[in-house]
Amino acid sequence: MYVNKKPVIGCLGLAVLALALVLAVVPVERVSAQDQKTPTCESCHAGAARDWARSKMAGAMNCSTCHGSEHNKAENARLVRTPTPATCQKCHSKQVEQFASGKHALGWRALEVVPNFAKLPAPVAQSGCIGCHQVGYIWADGSQGKCDSCHTRHSFSAAEANEPEACGTCHAGDHPQYDIWSNSKHGKLYQMTRDSSRAPKCQTCHMQGGDHKAITAWGFLGMRGEEPDPEWRKIRGTTETILKLIGPGNAPGVTRQTYAEWQAERQKMLDTCAGCHATSFAKRALERGDAVIKESDKVFGQIGMLTLKLRNERAIDDKTQSAILREALAYRFSAYMGTFHGAYRYAWDEGYLPLTDALVRLGERTGKLTNQR
Ligand code: HEC
Ligand code: HEC
Ligand code: HEC
Ligand code: HEC
Ligand code: HEC
Ligand code: HEC
Ligand code: HEC
Ligand code: HEC
Repeated sequence: MYVNKKPVIGCLGLAVLALALVLAVVPVERVSAQDQKTPTCESCHAGAARDWARSKMAGAMNCSTCHGSEHNKAENARLVRTPTPATCQKCHSKQVEQFASGKHALGWRALEVVPNFAKLPAPVAQSGCIGCHQVGYIWADGSQGKCDSCHTRHSFSAAEANEPEACGTCHAGDHPQYDIWSNSKHGKLYQMTRDSSRAPKCQTCHMQGGDHKAITAWGFLGMRGEEPDPEWRKIRGTTETILKLIGPGNAPGVTRQTYAEWQAERQKMLDTCAGCHATSFAKRALERGDAVIKESDKVFGQIGMLTLKLRNERAIDDKTQSAILREALAYRFSAYMGTFHGAYRYAWDEGYLPLTDALVRLGERTGKLTNQR
């Protein structure tokens, strides 16, 4: 839990709360009469005002800096201005520019490449995909991102955004890095000590020095534009074809296009590990991750070929094929995400083990008993 180290702000919060309680028992007519005389943002939006009072920015500006002053009563709410990263850029150009050059800023455009996204019922898309991918929302003024994804409004705290929980809402599901990290030695140690000089949290490795450009070497899909290993190149084709077929393989910036780009991100990561470990130790750990992607590609490739065979024999339809592939893909993800983050359970029990099981089941279906384990 993030502990607010500023008792002053805590007291202010309590004072506002006490005021809200007093107002709550005052007869309704008196409140509205008062509001008509001096209608302020705070009197109508007590929740936002309470959180804003906790913000370090509160002394330097007011509500109108971000929302404009055109809207000042209930009847003209449509005149309110919604701040975008262009608003924040006036005072925080460094963070806005770093963010725009990173992976989060591509989150909105990524949705367009998944064929099924457009077919979803709107409320489902809103409560699912959009909830997470709005981190890269593209505004009418062309600016990208929702800064309150991590700096929740209206406290806009750097300390809160700097805790691993801030990443937990979205790095879940078929990319469960929050649970994975929580199950690693790093995660457990951090949870015991809350001390990032003892054990690393997400931000230590992915926002080094407060850099808002979050990006990794392999990316979500474990692919790279140039594959120097000739043996791997041969088996990789199947994985790539399948990922493009399902959609994510076409997402903007999904792979580092050149080996040099991949290497640059890898080096940045190694430098971070070197803050606590011997470089040789960390290098071995990361190379184990690379090797697990390769081993998983071998199994995933065979699953892909078998589903094609079954599909051609009309033993399964498109929907079944895609369901089998999506399940196998999730195990493939888990195997290397678990390895890179040092969570043995995700690497094995939720990763390589069920991946090989899926192959065995498919083999039985085609009449050819395969045992890869
Ligand atoms: C007399 C009451 C009143 C005052 C004063 C007032 N508002 Fe509002 N505001 C409303 C109402 C009513 C809405 C419509 C949404 C709702 O029902 O809560 C609204 C809507 C908004 C919204 C959009 C909420 C959404 O749906 O996304 C924002 C932002 C906002 N107000 C900010 C402000 C700011 C900043 C000020 C001061 C400059 C201000 N308001 C002054 C009553 C008020
Ligand atoms: C630093 C910029 C900033 C300041 C200053 C600011 N807000 Fe906001 N506010 C935002 C952002 C960002 C959002 C989310 C907009 C979105 O993406 O829909 C927001 C949303 C809102 C909403 C609608 C969402 C909700 O949670 O109810 C209200 C109401 C609101 N602000 C009121 C206020 C009031 C009142 C103040 C002053 C006490 C204030 N804001 C000051 C940035 C700001
Ligand atoms: C008019 C200038 C201005 C604008 C616009 C502005 N900020 Fe700030 N911001 C400040 C100042 C001043 C501080 C306080 C610096 C300090 O005291 O350390 C600050 C601090 C912050 C911090 C660090 C708070 C902490 O806990 O250390 C965050 C995060 C932040 N702003 C986010 C935003 C976001 C997001 C937006 C846009 C929605 C925004 N700011 C818009 C001036 C601005
Ligand atoms: C509101 C949801 C949301 C939150 C909160 C969030 N992320 Fe993300 N993150 C995403 C999405 C969506 C993507 C993929 C963007 C795309 O489509 O390119 C992503 C991508 C990333 C990547 C890039 C991986 C790659 O492909 O190379 C890293 C690293 C990352 N996030 C780290 C973090 C960290 C660390 C935090 C917490 C400080 C965090 N994220 C908080 C939604 C979120
Ligand atoms: C729980 C939050 C969450 C939900 C819900 C979600 N995503 Fe994502 N999505 C992410 C995160 C986080 C990443 C990046 C994962 C990583 O790098 O390991 C991502 C990655 C992607 C990518 C690949 C982008 C890239 O370059 O890495 C695509 C495409 C995508 N999501 C589409 C969708 C679609 C379409 C939906 C809804 C059907 C959806 N997502 C639902 C959080 C979410
Ligand atoms: C993925 C989560 C995430 C998102 C999204 C995000 N930030 Fe941050 N931000 C952080 C973290 C973590 C820190 C603390 C970094 C540190 O202290 O090392 C931070 C710190 C800051 C600070 C304080 C810097 C300082 O040196 O005091 C500002 C200002 C800021 N962010 C602005 C923004 C703006 C503007 C946006 C939107 C373009 C944004 N942030 C989006 C995670 C995020
Ligand atoms: C000790 C450093 C470290 C910590 C702590 C850490 N990661 Fe990672 N993360 C890595 C490494 C290493 C990779 C693989 C990098 C590569 O592609 O070579 C990675 C990859 C990722 C990716 C890309 C897809 C994948 O999983 O392979 C995302 C997204 C991500 N991490 C998010 C997070 C989040 C969210 C947290 C916190 C809950 C976190 N990480 C904690 C080191 C770390
Ligand atoms: C802030 C310090 C810190 C950083 C940065 C850090 N680690 Fe660690 N790591 C630790 C500590 C402490 C342990 C627990 C050591 C033990 O098990 O006795 C640990 C454990 C490990 C383990 C498990 C070792 C075992 O014996 O089971 C691996 C693997 C590992 N780290 C790899 C990495 C990699 C790779 C990176 C960079 C991506 C990294 N670490 C970054 C502090 C750190």
